[in-house]
Amino acid sequence: IQADAIAAITAATDERSLDDARVAFLGKSGTLTKASSVMKDLPKEEKPKVGQLLNQARQAITAELDAKREALIAEADAKSVADLDLTLPGRTLPTGAIHPLTLMQDRVTKIFRQLGFALATGPEVETEWHCFDALNTPADHPARNESDTFYFDSGKLLRTHTSSVQIRTMEETAAPPVRIIAPGSAFRRDEIDATHLSVFNQIEGLYVAENVTLSDLKGTLEFFFKSLYGESTEVRFRPHFFPFTEPSFEIDVKLTAAGKDAKWIEIAGCGMVDPAVFDEVSKARGNEAFGSDKVTGFAFGMGLERLTMIEYGIADIRHLIENDQRFLNQFA
Ligand code: PHE
Repeated sequence: IQADAIAAITAATDERSLDDARVAFLGKSGTLTKASSVMKDLPKEEKPKVGQLLNQARQAITAELDAKREALIAEADAKSVADLDLTLPGRTLPTGAIHPLTLMQDRVTKIFRQLGFALATGPEVETEWHCFDALNTPADHPARNESDTFYFDSGKLLRTHTSSVQIRTMEETAAPPVRIIAPGSAFRRDEIDATHLSVFNQIEGLYVAENVTLSDLKGTLEFFFKSLYGESTEVRFRPHFFPFTEPSFEIDVKLTAAGKDAKWIEIAGCGMVDPAVFDEVSKARGNEAFGSDKVTGFAFGMGLERLTMIEYGIADIRHLIENDQRFLNQFA
């Protein structure tokens, strides 16, 4: 029996046929198991001898089974490694990329956070008061026209700029100082072309405290644009007009790192918060800590799309909303 079993085990070619051999000899009705049943009929003095022989056979067969099983596993392993073609190119999984507007917003936020500016938000559906009146914008100002602004039947509107967050923040703050930036969407009834979208993003900034000066404004924004676009970036302040700041400026930057014939590019609006804005917040909301006799401040606002287009040399603003993978994957 032992010799037959070892022959069957040796002949096995895989785990399945090896197990068949085990069952044939050691299983419940296997040859060796059956042979063991003669034990009970043997005379007493022969039992130890025969029992020992049967045990030896079982042990020998079991050892052979174990050895063969290991040999089969080793053989299968070797075969699967031999089948593995290590020269095949790897399979890459498709990965997403962070949108360039998000990349840029994160960078802007990080720089202002270094300067102690906190993040603030406000609603996109705004009241006329927060978007215009409190910002010293008269009722007949062109920005308030139905042809420029999306109005709801309720009289509310889609905010045309993030400057409304200036007002919201001062309303919600018990006492100065306020030092915030507010990134968010703005909406205008503009014709869509290479430089205009009707939904776009701005980053608003506001710093209010005792004795905030124009040199704080200039120093902060110069530091910001040099941090963003490189130390050699030139920054200039051109007098301008906004209803809610006085004096007001537009900021231009010249990216000298880009080359000799770099041009001045308009990039942001800013100014010293108009006293009328402080007085409106303080009177209308009973928040006297923000009275124009107590505080001064500066504010600024810039377009996130514009910052991003300048950084990456994007010629058409519509690339930023079309979700074309060929465009987006360049930022991976
Ligand atoms: N709200 C202005 C705009 O949308 C930008 C601005 C913000 C100007 C804050 C001055 C101060 O054009």
